[in-house]
Amino acid sequence: MKKEILKVQSNERLTDTIYEMKLSGCSSMLPGQFVELLIPGFSLRRPFSVAEYSKGIITIIYKVTGRGTEEMTAIKKNAKIDTLTGLGRGFSLSGSEHPLLIGGGIGIAPLIYLARVLYEREKSVKILLCGRCKNDLIKREELKKYGEVFYATDDGSCGFKGNALEAAQSLFKQTDHYYACGPMPMLKALAKNNNKGELSLEAHMGCGFGACMGCSIETTEGPKRVCKEGPVFLASELLF
Ligand SMILES: Cc1cc2nc3c(=O)[nH]c(=O)nc-3n(C[C@H](O)[C@H](O)[C@H](O)COP(=O)(O)OP(=O)(O)OC[C@H]3O[C@@H](n4cnc5c(N)ncnc54)[C@H](O)[C@@H]3O)c2cc1C
Ligand code: FES
Repeated sequence: MKKEILKVQSNERLTDTIYEMKLSGCSSMLPGQFVELLIPGFSLRRPFSVAEYSKGIITIIYKVTGRGTEEMTAIKKNAKIDTLTGLGRGFSLSGSEHPLLIGGGIGIAPLIYLARVLYEREKSVKILLCGRCKNDLIKREELKKYGEVFYATDDGSCGFKGNALEAAQSLFKQTDHYYACGPMPMLKALAKNNNKGELSLEAHMGCGFGACMGCSIETTEGPKRVCKEGPVFLASELLF
């Protein structure tokens, strides 16, 4: 973990409620790790997954859900943000030649950086993007560069009509390892059906770096902290 002052390069709207922010000055981030931004006017930092990282610039993709993320939408280019970087344990990057990435809603964000790195390691990547409707399926064009992309929506407006687990069934047969990020019910359903995967979890966080135990979850090896031992866990170790 490092405390760094990052400079906003851009902060653009992607959909009605989802924005993309790029910040420079970050020393290191691995796929699946997260940052904690101190949004001006707030005392509690907000955690966000890294959606891309290259040459010191991180991208975060955030959904407006409350006061902090609403405030973020007004942050201008060149603003400086006090940030904790390189937080948590990210995705494992080896072990599968045919990985399947499953993203639900804003959970697609951390899979972009992961997909690029796996593609650069010459893995045969399949990506399943899931949402309530097609507007939830962000970054479709970018992800097509890194693998074969499939879609599932609850309302059938794009791809398979149904939920992530239903859509994943046939793809599970073509992979030996999956990576998933999305809403907790989706992750729970995937893990119960197939435990050969890694799940990126969210939890309400206090400190964000392992000091307060506020983000503990139950695992087969006892309680673990989402911010420190996670946010990525093996599906086989989680007790939902
Ligand atoms: C490791 C991690 C990575 C995350 N990555 C992303 C990301 O890439 N993009 C993104 O949009 N969001 C991400 N989140 C969720 C994001 O941190 C919250 O949406 C944000 O902190 C809400 O702040 P707020 O002030 O707008 O909302 P608040 O006013 O604090 O709360 C509004 C709503 O958001 C919920 N919420 C608040 N904090 C969290 C939290 N830590 N986890 C889940 N729900 C929360 C509250 O229960 C409430 O329903 C991540 C969370 C974690 C723990
Ligand atoms: S948020 Fe404090 S230990 Fe995880």
